[in-house]
Amino acid sequence: MIRKFVIGSPIDTEAVIREFPVEAGEVPGWERNEAEKSLSYSMAPDDIVYGLGETVRGMNKRGWIYEADAQDDPNHTEGRHSLYAAHNFLLIYGKARSFGIFFDNPGMMTFDIGYTDHDILKVTFRDFDAAIYLIEAASLKEIVHEFRGIIGRSYIPPKWAFGVGQSRWSYMDEDEVREVVRNYRGNGMPLDAVYLDIDYMDAYKDFTVNEKTFPDFSAFVQEMKEQGIHLVPIIDAGVKIEKGYRVYEEGTARGYFVRKADGQNLVAAVWPGKVHFPDVLNEEARKWFGDQYKVLLDAGIDGFWNDMNEPAVFYTEDHLKEVFEKIREYEGKNLDIRSFFEFRGLVAGISNNPEDYRRFYHDYKGEKIRHDKVHNLFGDYMTRAAGEAFERLSPDKRILMFSRSSYIGMHRYGGVWTGDNSSWWSHILLNLHQLPGLNMAGFLYSGADTGGFGSDATEDLLMRWLELSIFTPLLRNHSAMGTRRQEFYRFKDKNSFRNLLRLRYALIPYLYSEFMKAALNDGMLFEPLSFEYPSDARAAEVEDQLLVGESIMIAPVYTQNAGGRYVYLPEDMKLLRMRSPKDLDAEEMVAGDHYVPCALNEVLVFIRPGHVLPLGEDAENVEKIDDAKITRIPFRTDPDVYELYDDDGVTRL
Ligand code: NOJ
Repeated sequence: MIRKFVIGSPIDTEAVIREFPVEAGEVPGWERNEAEKSLSYSMAPDDIVYGLGETVRGMNKRGWIYEADAQDDPNHTEGRHSLYAAHNFLLIYGKARSFGIFFDNPGMMTFDIGYTDHDILKVTFRDFDAAIYLIEAASLKEIVHEFRGIIGRSYIPPKWAFGVGQSRWSYMDEDEVREVVRNYRGNGMPLDAVYLDIDYMDAYKDFTVNEKTFPDFSAFVQEMKEQGIHLVPIIDAGVKIEKGYRVYEEGTARGYFVRKADGQNLVAAVWPGKVHFPDVLNEEARKWFGDQYKVLLDAGIDGFWNDMNEPAVFYTEDHLKEVFEKIREYEGKNLDIRSFFEFRGLVAGISNNPEDYRRFYHDYKGEKIRHDKVHNLFGDYMTRAAGEAFERLSPDKRILMFSRSSYIGMHRYGGVWTGDNSSWWSHILLNLHQLPGLNMAGFLYSGADTGGFGSDATEDLLMRWLELSIFTPLLRNHSAMGTRRQEFYRFKDKNSFRNLLRLRYALIPYLYSEFMKAALNDGMLFEPLSFEYPSDARAAEVEDQLLVGESIMIAPVYTQNAGGRYVYLPEDMKLLRMRSPKDLDAEEMVAGDHYVPCALNEVLVFIRPGHVLPLGEDAENVEKIDDAKITRIPFRTDPDVYELYDDDGVTRL
């Protein structure tokens, strides 16, 4: 049962696609405090709080304070309160009462989940305007299913997007891309996509290609296609201010960029230097921005990633002026402890400054709305611009799209990657923690930068990370400029990487089947154990294992130098210790706690009783996967009970 409550005059974000009557009175069980602009819920001592999608910390969010505040910040530490997204859905799981609750408010909010008081969940709004949806059903699975039913079907990518992707900031020219492909193919490592980061563009101008480094782009896209490789270019939110640059000229002439109170276009800066931001919240401007993707589609491109769309702001012209003025005051002074820190804070605060988000306005549904009030919608609507354009420009064929920033609702138009993580062991676990929360919020197509974006990857870290990523729909190795190169073929034990990458392709029939079932039936691909074992209190505490689809449980190793790990089995399971599609051992294990050895090149997969894992063979790319070559591995059931979903992988559904 879903009930809608309204506080104040909420902005319609279009996250929810169904109409509901608004109920009078308070949200049952929640106490409203007008002065604080908050709603509070008393949690039972053992209530678990899932949700919030892409954020920091564990699957059970209890014990920290989170914010709905999309931020461009690569330090994904435990002390943070938000990352790039705002996914304001919570799932409270208790003995007495379980329910889902979605706070549809595109501005700043905080979720104090037992941080101030372990027993209180307090949601505080900057603007006390929200549509609130309360979802009650018989099980956690059903609550999520009901919620997903009201926010619309999750984005479905082309099947090739389940293949391995290799990325780097940046492969600078055609030859560098060719070299990556040669190395993959030469080492017998499967590959479907190479990502083009910002340097493929001409001076970081969206929808342009550098003609010196990619002299005949369409021909190059074709050349790669012939080798089974899709090129996936990045698109940034900021449009370079440059006379004669078509996108800038058109956007300016038509008034499609965001403006300040005085009517002037906001001048911010990102990679290209000074930019304007398209007003993607304005329907006309959104259509126009989406249409820009056509030049790349026409060149044969069939996948994109949208970046810097929180939107990230290196500086605004206005704020920089203020900073320079202040800096002059410090010049020549003997900076004491206070003035030095003020000075340092002034400079450090130039980027993504909250004041800057109050300097400009959107034209949203005919109303002028200050950006900070709809801040969390920007990435959503930029990606919606692309998604809606793809429906017009490519009505038959699916196009790959994923974004850095997002809000619930964007899941209908694209997936997400989890941004600038680091080559840290703790980020393998963070990645695992984020997956079920993302799924609850509708984001099924997702994955992290495998191997870590910032910092230097080591061979063992990359291998362990890959052993988790071989289960995530998006499997992309990506790293930052200046960090150690981390393409799989650069490390010593190429054989193990090759085998694990091949194992990914053998798992694709199952992963795609389970992904599609989740997308078509408003389900999840990654579930915490409590979803399937609700009466097992021990299972509910497990924070480092996941159910992947109906048949398997995974338990990745995520600690340095570990030769195994403890695994909790809520019921008897069949352990597959897998090194490649052909090299695996099977062992039946009884329910309970086990220390399970796991060599560096091994993946642990646990098949649930009554279930089957269909396992294919390796293939050079997704197109070459042969469904006829699937082996069904059952545990205590008939191999035929598993229903394998498949389709042509490109036709829109
Ligand atoms: C930030 C993105 O998160 C990262 O993936 C990308 O490499 C850089 N921008 C450069 O485009």
